[in-house]
Amino acid sequence: MTDHRRSRPTEVPPCPGEPPGGPGSQRSDFELKPADFRRLSAFIYDRLGIHLPPVKKTLLEGRLRKRLIALGLPSFTAYCDLLFSERGQAEEVPQMIDLVTTNKTDFFREPDHFTYLTTTALPRLQAGQARPPDKPLRVWSAGCSSGEEPYTLALVLSEYATAHPPFSFTILATDISSRMLAIATAGIYPEERIAPIPQHLRERFLLRSRDRSRRLIKFAPEIRRTIRFEKLNLKDIPPTFRETFHIIFCRNVIIYFDRPTQGWLLEQLVRRLVPGGYLFLGHSEALTGMRHEHLHGVAPTVYRKMGGPGGKDVP
Ligand SMILES: C[S@@+](CC[C@H](N)C(=O)[O-])C[C@H]1O[C@@H](n2cnc3c(N)ncnc32)[C@H](O)[C@@H]1O
Repeated sequence: MTDHRRSRPTEVPPCPGEPPGGPGSQRSDFELKPADFRRLSAFIYDRLGIHLPPVKKTLLEGRLRKRLIALGLPSFTAYCDLLFSERGQAEEVPQMIDLVTTNKTDFFREPDHFTYLTTTALPRLQAGQARPPDKPLRVWSAGCSSGEEPYTLALVLSEYATAHPPFSFTILATDISSRMLAIATAGIYPEERIAPIPQHLRERFLLRSRDRSRRLIKFAPEIRRTIRFEKLNLKDIPPTFRETFHIIFCRNVIIYFDRPTQGWLLEQLVRRLVPGGYLFLGHSEALTGMRHEHLHGVAPTVYRKMGGPGGKDVP
């Protein structure tokens, strides 16, 4: 696999506006003891694949502190005891996942990917054998956060469909965070979030709240019905998940994983790409040293699956 980017260390960056140690990190009334940090970070790695080196202790402290306060717990040790109890595993783990995942996203984030999609990838897929014209194009937004990425895909693909009939598509959008999936499924966003969406797409596919003072927008039903939201842990993709896709967006997710997990996930994604299909990674995600015999770099952080069963047909 050809790579266009330099490698970067795996790390969890703070959210925009968050102090370097994470929210609340400037308060010191709760301190995460090294032993508790080790328990939590081992669990987070094991469950989510997210790698938290010791320098991320204050970030984790900051993200979990509010939760301790909400639960009325006296210390991180008490929080660990709760989390690792039978009840905590069922009830607290989803809450903790919501807090430790970084969910930053935007409509039309890394816009050149959408340009490449419509100007190059889709025409090639339409011209080639990878997609029979009477079947919908299948797209997967893996790690979709609060939905901005799959809604952007739905907007761009709807516009493409109008200009290139016959063309239809379906989008599967998955994430591990229940809180993010709830926002995504609702498909309602504050008006200030939609600034990156071009005006003609807003006019065609976005509905304003009847109560203008609420300053909310909702996606039109024709856009919403193209996306299926599901909870899926990319660290633990079940073998029963056998769908294949022409396009996979897995952007700004693998940066949080360590190399072995990245390699495993890459293999899982490639297996679920049809020959000739495209994989889009985040602009800061390098796969240096992680070659895959069937993946070829075709643009910065865009890869195409060549070869493999049926791969000879790829134009
Ligand atoms: C920074 S957001 C990226 C959102 C979008 N792809 C984009 O580029 O704008 C990363 C998302 O990955 C999700 N995530 C992290 N670990 C995950 C895992 N093990 N399985 C599934 N999703 C995960 C987080 O919940 C978060 O919503």
